[in-house]
Order: sequence, then C-alpha cells, then structure tokens
Amino acid sequence: MADKVGALIDNLSSGVIFEDEQGVIIEANPAFCRMWHSPLGADELLGHPVTEVGWPPAAAFAEPEIARQRLLTLAGARQPKFDQELRTSDGRIIALDYVPVRVGDVYGGCFWIYRDATERKRAEEEIRILNHELEQRVALRTHELARSNRELANSLRRLGETQEQLIHAGKMAAVGTLVAGLSHELNNPLGIIVGYVQGILRRMSPEAPGRESLAAVERQALRCAHLVRSLLDFSRSKPATREQAALGPLIERVLELAAGQARQRGVELRWLARAPIPELTVCAQEIESALLNLVSNAIDANPTGGSVMIAVSPAAHRNRDGVEINVTDTGTGISRGVLARIFDPFFTTKPVGEGTGIGLSLTRQIVESHGGRIDVRTAEGVGTTMRMWLPSQPESEADATPESESKSPTRMNSTSIAAASVVGTGTH
Ligand SMILES: Nc1ncnc2c1ncn2[C@@H]1O[C@H](COP(=O)(O)OP(=O)(O)O)[C@@H](O)[C@H]1O
Ligand SMILES: [Mg+2]
Repeated sequence: MADKVGALIDNLSSGVIFEDEQGVIIEANPAFCRMWHSPLGADELLGHPVTEVGWPPAAAFAEPEIARQRLLTLAGARQPKFDQELRTSDGRIIALDYVPVRVGDVYGGCFWIYRDATERKRAEEEIRILNHELEQRVALRTHELARSNRELANSLRRLGETQEQLIHAGKMAAVGTLVAGLSHELNNPLGIIVGYVQGILRRMSPEAPGRESLAAVERQALRCAHLVRSLLDFSRSKPATREQAALGPLIERVLELAAGQARQRGVELRWLARAPIPELTVCAQEIESALLNLVSNAIDANPTGGSVMIAVSPAAHRNRDGVEINVTDTGTGISRGVLARIFDPFFTTKPVGEGTGIGLSLTRQIVESHGGRIDVRTAEGVGTTMRMWLPSQPESEADATPESESKSPTRMNSTSIAAASVVGTGTH
C-alpha cells in the first residue's frame, strides 16, 4: 500500500514534499526536483529539514522576500491553504497547496504540493479580458440601441407633429381662401349699409319713430363689419412689415382696449412687469391683436370677481433671445376635448353671436409667422395660462421651420395642469 502511494506520488506532475511533525522531509517526488531545478534528486532530499532543501530556493521566485514570508506564514499557521499563487523569476505561476495532516488532534506533518498553473492562469486571464471586451461591447451596443430608440421616438413624435401641422396647414389654406373671398364680397355691401344707416340717423331727430330700430341696425351692421375685418386679418397672406417695438406701451394699449370688457364682466386686469422688457422686432399691430385675443378669452373665461394677469419676462428658447408673455386667468379651465380644438379656425364654445372661434386660430397664425410659439397650461376649475413666446429678432428661415420638440395640444391631460404647445408651421 505504502509502495503504491509512493509510486503514485512519484508519478504526479505536481511537485510534492511531505515533511513529518519534526519538519524533516520523508517524501519528495521527481516533479518537485524538476520544477525547482533541485541539485539533489528526490531520494537525496529525504531526511533533510524542509526549510533547507524542501523549500524552493529564494532565487527561483520573482519576489524572493515575499515568497519566503508566505511559506513561513503557511508553515507557522498549520492550517490548510490551497491555490496560493507564487510567481517565479522565469515568469511561471505556481499554485501551492499546503495540507497539514492530523492524526486525531495531533499534528503529523504536512504536504507541500506545487502545481504549474501558468497555462491555467493565462487562460483565465484571457477569458477575463474576453469577458471584459464582451461586456464593453454589450454596453456599447446597449447604449447605441438606447440612442436609436430615443431617435426613433423623436422621429415618431416629429412625424406626429408634422402630420398635425399639415392637417392644420391644409385647413388654414382652405379656410383662408374661403374667408378671403367671402369677407371681400361682404365688405363693400356692409360699408354701404353702415354708410346709409348712419346718414339717415344723422338726419333723424332724436325722437323720430323707428330711430331705436335703425340704431340697432347700425350696431349689428358695425358688428358684422368688425367681424369681416377680423376675417380679412385672418386670411391676409402677405407677411406684415416688422419693426422695433417696445412691449410696454403695446401691453398698455391692450389693457386699455380690454378695459371695457373687463369692467362689464367684473374682472380685474393686472400686469406684472418683473424685469426690463427688451424691444422686439415684430409687427406691433399683429402682436397687439394676438395678445388682445388672449386677454379677451381670459376675461370671458372668468367668473365675476375673477382676475386676469399678464406677466412678461425675457426668456431664451433654443438659444434664441426672446420674451415670454403669460396671460393667466382664474376661470373655468379647458376640458381635454375642448383643448384639442381651441386653435382650430371657427371652433368656439361660446353662444352664437358671442364667439367666432377666430381668435386663437389667428393668434396662433400671428405667433407662428413671428417664429414664436404658444402653449396652454390649464386645470379645470382652476384657470388657464396661455403662454406666448416671441423671439427678439425674426429669423425668417427658422421661422418657417416647424420645431421638433413641441407637444401637441391633442395629447393634453386637462384634469391636471396640462401644457400644449403649437409652433410655427410655415403655412403662410
Ligand atoms: N382662457 C381660456 N379659458 C377657457 N377657455 C378658453 C380660453 N381661451 C380660449 N378658450 C376656449 O377656446 C375657444 C376658442 O377661442 P377663440 O379662438 O378665441 O374663439 P372665441 O373666443 O371666439 O370662442 C373658446 O371658445 C373657449 O372655449
Ligand atoms: Mg376669443
């Protein structure tokens, strides 16, 4: 049996030394001698203290001091330790197993088993590097996929917006043609009616019978004329001339124009001028109409005792300087279904004779033609803020280009604060 074990140890490819409880070598194999270039044969090692000939020579290690310390620590602890890595001066990696043997509780010596782990370690290192490369490639690919996904989502959104803008552009073109023709045809007869009625009224004595009725005809004809004028504004296709305009006086004019309507409805009008407002290069008359439309809608939406607040502040958008004008009311808010349509021409929720549905459509057209944007924040029962952003300077090319990141008013949630933005479509 002992012979068999001896033969087995002799034939191992691992280098083996067995020392007894006194630290004397009682077993050693040829593989140990080959591995450490021992000047003594395996048999010649027997009977010598392990620390003299059974430990590889210091010069065999890449870091002799460290290696010696590790052997000392293992021998001192007498605890089994496996796969201790030792680097040799000729670039090999040796894995050392330290295996103490106990007979009952009594220490009976120990095995030192050295295996050449160079190839295994190299393979492990290669696998580690390959794994690392693979992980990096996966991470890169994941990153690329995420980016493609984002781009795809962006494209989809832009497509949706473009579609919406095309639909809007189509509607506007059709409506524009109809309105231009109709209002032109109506303008002359209305002018004549108003002229005659006013002529007759001038000649009539204040008490003349029928005067009241004629005055009513005049009022209604004037209302029609006003409507026709708005329609003509709406369908006007030529861009108006732009010049430097100070916003302060413009807002004051709007407040003056809206004061009567506000008084009638018992609504307070307020203007918060927080910071110095830069001048804008705009068609002041158009911006005045746009703002007046927003203020007028805000007054309409308010209950008696409500308020409309105008707040103006400088604001850059996509690296363009500009101004943001917020018109906030404390009115009804806008429901989801209505919100989707408020910019449609002729869409109104107001009774016949009160609403025309032109205001916001026209406002949007004006803002777009200035390269600006308009969005809505609304909460039902709380109120609405219409936010109009205008660039300080027109940038005619960009003004005609739809912006990509705007949101559609049709996708709004009206129960919570919602935001809708509508941007330039280049339809005119
Ligand atoms: N501030 C607001 N609060 C609530 N609803 C509003 C507000 N502004 C606009 N709207 C809604 O948008 C619709 C369209 O407005 P607009 O185009 O100005 O036409 P009009 O005022 O003639 O109805 C209004 O009828 C109203 O339902
Ligand atoms: Mg209106």
